Amino acid sequence: MGVTVIVGAQWGDEGKGKITHLLSPKFDAVVRYQGGSNAGHTVKTRGSTYKFHLLPSGILHEGKKCILAAGVVIDPTTLAREITELTESGYFKGELIISSDAHIVAPYHKLLDEMEEKRLGKSAIGTTGHGIGPAYSDKYLRIGIKAGDLLDHDILRRKVEYAVETKNSLLTALYSHEPLDAGEQFEMMVESGKHIVPFIKNTIPIIRDLLANGSELLLEGAQGTLLDIDYGTYPFVTSSHPVTAGACLGTGISPLKLNRVIAVSKAYATRVGNGSFPTEQRNDLGDRMREAGREYGTTTGRKRRCGWLDLVLLKYAILINGATDIALTKIDVLNEFDSINVCVGYMYKGERIDEVDLDDSILSKCKPIYEEFPGWKEEIGYMRSPDELPEKLMSFIGFVEGKLGIPASILSVGPDHDQTIFRNGI
Ligand code: GDP
Ligand code: IMO
Ligand code: MG
Repeated sequence: MGVTVIVGAQWGDEGKGKITHLLSPKFDAVVRYQGGSNAGHTVKTRGSTYKFHLLPSGILHEGKKCILAAGVVIDPTTLAREITELTESGYFKGELIISSDAHIVAPYHKLLDEMEEKRLGKSAIGTTGHGIGPAYSDKYLRIGIKAGDLLDHDILRRKVEYAVETKNSLLTALYSHEPLDAGEQFEMMVESGKHIVPFIKNTIPIIRDLLANGSELLLEGAQGTLLDIDYGTYPFVTSSHPVTAGACLGTGISPLKLNRVIAVSKAYATRVGNGSFPTEQRNDLGDRMREAGREYGTTTGRKRRCGWLDLVLLKYAILINGATDIALTKIDVLNEFDSINVCVGYMYKGERIDEVDLDDSILSKCKPIYEEFPGWKEEIGYMRSPDELPEKLMSFIGFVEGKLGIPASILSVGPDHDQTIFRNGI
């Protein structure tokens, strides 16, 4: 399989964690390429549930190389907690490697995230509050702290002092907050950093050697295409590149090395946080999806907004990601629905459109046009082969595949790792 990318095709929470965990045994290494502890990836296996924010979802597999690549932003406190909890339960089985080039989310980043959201009030993005935007901003301002800086306290102190000086002017002038003490911030970073220091390495030669010896790599995305900073529903996006190109940037792997891109999408749609969501069902249908799909955020516990599958946006995601396959997840959530809607176009300014500019100012004015399918009204969670699936469901899947032009090679019919049906030789 060479290098395979797992990419979120919607607004996150598509089930990337489940799919990554499931496919990991076929790969030599699992690499997280972007995002930070804003991610919440759930893995259910053998009766236990694991929620990963930073650890790659392959970590439960013995000896699996699990890399946090340069494109990730790391909150050492969260990562240390994840490592400790998993070690205590005996499931820290993979080999963790953290890129020295990955940026660190400092305590002041989390404070700034919170302050800015408060300041924005009604226009808030609805971030996870994990300091993601401020950490990536500092990276691009070239005042960020890299994981490698945790290894040299003189460099770390100098960089923290410089960053805190600029933050203090913002904190005091814009947010009426007391200035931070640079020494305290430095000490906090040393303290939390010491738990992750043993894992920090230069990952470039490690990945180079893996590729050179023919190893198979699984690149795990966080968030989703519609939250991409360039290709998502701006400004209601995250501050990184969840799309396939972000996997290349975030790992340093050439695009020419990619063999397969699996776009993960629910059979319906959800969104956490603010921003347009044309197919949202703010009604009984949406509530039923939320309850059946247990749609509450893994990271923040917030209610996820629910609605119908949007093929205009999904088609766009397939294009941007160069996806070769779809993993269609949470199909079982629709078991009880009499009919199932799928958005196939929009009405915009009185005209039908089949393609859309994702900027929130435009998307917010689009009204979905639906195609309706009869529900299959059958429990499917125990089914393990496409032949067992109800005919009505197979024609729904066939329609989706026809519109997208790529196969739904993985069908997920429940949260547990074995509630999955593979097709097309995956
Ligand atoms: P991720 O962020 O993309 O990894 O997705 P999350 O883990 O945040 O959210 C997906 C949720 O749906 C998790 O609670 C999973 O356990 C659950 N899940 C994944 N696949 C299925 C499925 O096919 N059916 C059901 N009912 N739940 C699923
Ligand atoms: P996974 O990897 C769903 C959303 C937030 C907010 C916006 C910006 O589990 O799919 P941020 O904290 O990143 O600055 O918030 O992005 N968001 C997610 N939504 N799943 C995620 O991750 C998300 N990570 C961020 O709700 O709307
Ligand atoms: Mg999630």
